[in-house]
Amino acid sequence: MTTHTMAVTNCGGTTATLLMCVSAFIISVCKAHAAAPAVYVLGDSLVDVGNNNYLPLSIAKANFPHNGVDFPNRKPTGRFSNGENAADFLAKKIGLPTSPAYLSLVGATPPITGVSFASGGAGILNETGGFLFKQAISLAQQVDYFTVVHDKLVHQLGLSGAQAHLSKSIFLIVFGNNDWFAYFRVGSIVAKQYTPQQYVDRMVSTFKVLLKTLYGLGARKLVVTGVGAIGCCPIQRKENRTGECKVEINYWSAKYNDGLKMMLQGLKSESPGMNYAYFDTYGAMVNLFQNHETYGYTEIKEACCGVGNLNADAPCTPLAIYCPNRKNHVFWDLYHPTESVASLFSDLIYSGSQQFMVPINVEQLLAV
Ligand SMILES: *[C@@H]1O[C@H](CO)[C@@H](O)[C@H](O)[C@H]1NC(C)=O
Ligand SMILES: *[C@@H]1O[C@H](CO)[C@@H](O)[C@H](O)[C@H]1NC(C)=O
Repeated sequence: MTTHTMAVTNCGGTTATLLMCVSAFIISVCKAHAAAPAVYVLGDSLVDVGNNNYLPLSIAKANFPHNGVDFPNRKPTGRFSNGENAADFLAKKIGLPTSPAYLSLVGATPPITGVSFASGGAGILNETGGFLFKQAISLAQQVDYFTVVHDKLVHQLGLSGAQAHLSKSIFLIVFGNNDWFAYFRVGSIVAKQYTPQQYVDRMVSTFKVLLKTLYGLGARKLVVTGVGAIGCCPIQRKENRTGECKVEINYWSAKYNDGLKMMLQGLKSESPGMNYAYFDTYGAMVNLFQNHETYGYTEIKEACCGVGNLNADAPCTPLAIYCPNRKNHVFWDLYHPTESVASLFSDLIYSGSQQFMVPINVEQLLAV
C-alpha cells in the first residue's frame, strides 16, 4: 500500500516513482491528474463495492452470479449490479481508482485515494439494516470506521497534512432508501412507534449529527443523494395490482428529501468552508420513467434478474433468470438499477444541470 501512496502523491515525479507506477490503474491515476486526492464513500447497496462480503450475518449479499455478469469473466464482486455502480463511475470521472471496501483491507494501510464504508441494507438509523437484512453497517458505524481511517491519515501525513488532504477529498454519501423500506415493510415496528413525519424528522436529525461529525473530522466536500422514487422499484410495483408505483412510500420519500435539502442548507450556513452537491435522485428517476424511450430503455418495471412477478419475487441468485439485454432495462434486480442507469445518473451527478443537482454539481464542487 505504501507504493500506492508514493505513486499517487508524487505523480509525474522521479524515475523511482515512475518505476512504482507498475499497475495499469496507478499509471492512469498518474496521467489523469485526479481532480481530488481521494473519494470516501459512505452508503448503502447502491454504492457497496464488497463490504457486505465480510458480514457473516447479512442476507444482503451479491457476491455470486448473476451479479457482475457484465464484468470480465462474469465476476461477482459484491456489487448489486450487472457491472459497475455509481461509486465506480464517480471515481473514474474524478480520475481515481474505485475506493476499496474498508472491510477488505483487514488492517492494511488504507490507500491514500480513499476507502468505501458502504454496506448493502444500511440505513441512517442504526436499526434499519438489522430489520431488513439481519446485519449491515449503519451510517453511525460507517462514521466510526472513518474515524479510524482519519486517525491513520493523521499518523501518516500529520494533522495539517491530513486536514489538507480531507478538505480536498470528496465524500460520497448515499443513504435513506433502506430506512423507508424498513418503515413501510409488512409488520414494521418503527411504523407503530413513529408517524411518517416523526420518522422524517428522526432521519434528518440523525443524518445532521453524523454529517457534523464528518465535518469535525475534516470533511469539506460532500456529495449527498436524496432518496429515489423507491415506490417504483420492482419489489414495490409488484405490490400494486396495477403494476404502477406505490404511492405512500414515494410520498414520504419526497417529504424526507425536502427535509434533507433544508438540513443541508442549514448545515452549510453553520459550517465554514463546507460545500455540498445534492442529487435529486427522486426527480431523476421520475424523469427517466417518463422519458425512458429517449434514454434507450424499453423496460422500466421488470427487474432484469430475478424470479416471478416482475422478476421481483426473489433476489438475483444463480437460480434466477436474467435478461439478455441489460442496456434496455432500468432495474437490474428487485431494488437496484442496471449498470447503464448507474452510469447515466453518475453523469448527472458529475456534470448535470441544476434540474437535478443543487446548488452545484460535482465538477463545480471539485473546483470550489
Ligand atoms: C447508533 O450506533 C452507534 C454505534 O455505531 C452508537 O454510538 C449510537 O449511540 C447509536 N445511536 C442510537 C440513537 O442508538
Ligand atoms: C397503485 O397505482 C395506482 C396508479 O398509479 C395508484 O392510484 C394507487 O394508489 C397505487 N396503489 C398503491 C397501494 O400505492
